[in-house]
Amino acid sequence: MEFTGSHILSIQQFEREDIQQVFRVAAQMEPYAQRRKATRVLEGAILGNMFFEASTRTRISFGSAFNLLGGEVRESVGMDSLSVVKGESLQDTARVLSGFSDIICMRYPEAGSVAEFAGASRVPVLNGGDGSNEHPSQALLDLFTIEKEMAGRGRGIDGLRIAMIGDLKYGRTVHSLGKLLALYDNIQIVLVSPPELQMPEDIVEIMRSAGHQIEVSDSLEPSIAHVDIVYSTRIQEERFPDRQQADLYRGRFRLNQGLYTKHCEPNTVIMHPLPRDSRAEANELDRDLDGNPNLAIFRQTDNGLLVRMALFALVLDVVGLVEDYACDVPWHVPKTPV
Ligand code: CP
Repeated sequence: MEFTGSHILSIQQFEREDIQQVFRVAAQMEPYAQRRKATRVLEGAILGNMFFEASTRTRISFGSAFNLLGGEVRESVGMDSLSVVKGESLQDTARVLSGFSDIICMRYPEAGSVAEFAGASRVPVLNGGDGSNEHPSQALLDLFTIEKEMAGRGRGIDGLRIAMIGDLKYGRTVHSLGKLLALYDNIQIVLVSPPELQMPEDIVEIMRSAGHQIEVSDSLEPSIAHVDIVYSTRIQEERFPDRQQADLYRGRFRLNQGLYTKHCEPNTVIMHPLPRDSRAEANELDRDLDGNPNLAIFRQTDNGLLVRMALFALVLDVVGLVEDYACDVPWHVPKTPV
């Protein structure tokens, strides 16, 4: 695909070689993300960071990624802060905001809304999550993490065995990840959910058409026994009519260290797009896993910074200039590995 000036709205825009290009650029971003170097390559550029649904990781890592490339970030957070509550259309909002920014990241509660916004935008728009539809940058950082974790085990992405667990109906991260895995070969996927929250059939069909082996289950223990990756997700309460409906499913699939030791292979990687729901009634990934070296959830978030820097550099066509605008950093804040 041509990255320069493109909107990033869906994983289905990408071919396999595009993914490898994103990952190559992401790897080049490591010295900047780790603050060993700084670059001013996007000095003067403005990111409009528009998040009209709750977000910790996506919003702040998109913003930090832009800052790390030398750009400025202007944020709008929460639906009440937007003049759509006064009846302004998403299209007019896009025409206005794209006059103020050079690139926009957006999260919005309705499926298809970010694409609708992008249709009227005068600058590239990156989808930070549109309802239960897609979360393309999350899928990219998830697969980047999977590639790194599997490389440490002498393996690649082809031939991967993965269990996706939880709310597969409303979870946009698993929708995008499923579509992304369809670009690879010979993947075994176990889809573990309550029957009412199964993966949408169109996404299952995309994975099946890629030749992948798909199994559907509503039982955790046998599903995590022979996989390389356990990818857990929370119940997407915000997509349910009310909390009581979500409570019917919350806590259905809980992984803790005891279950991991009993059922998983010794090096099974544990992933989650986060936030994990740590309330007692949910607790899909118990905190007693925090000392498990195979828990990759905070490596995922660190990798998100690299992948989002790569997306900005590719879309704004500055990959080859990052080094030209680099300088040393006279300070250092040591961070413990996660
Ligand atoms: N993974 C993810 O989208 O997290 P946030 O909702 O905190 O952005």
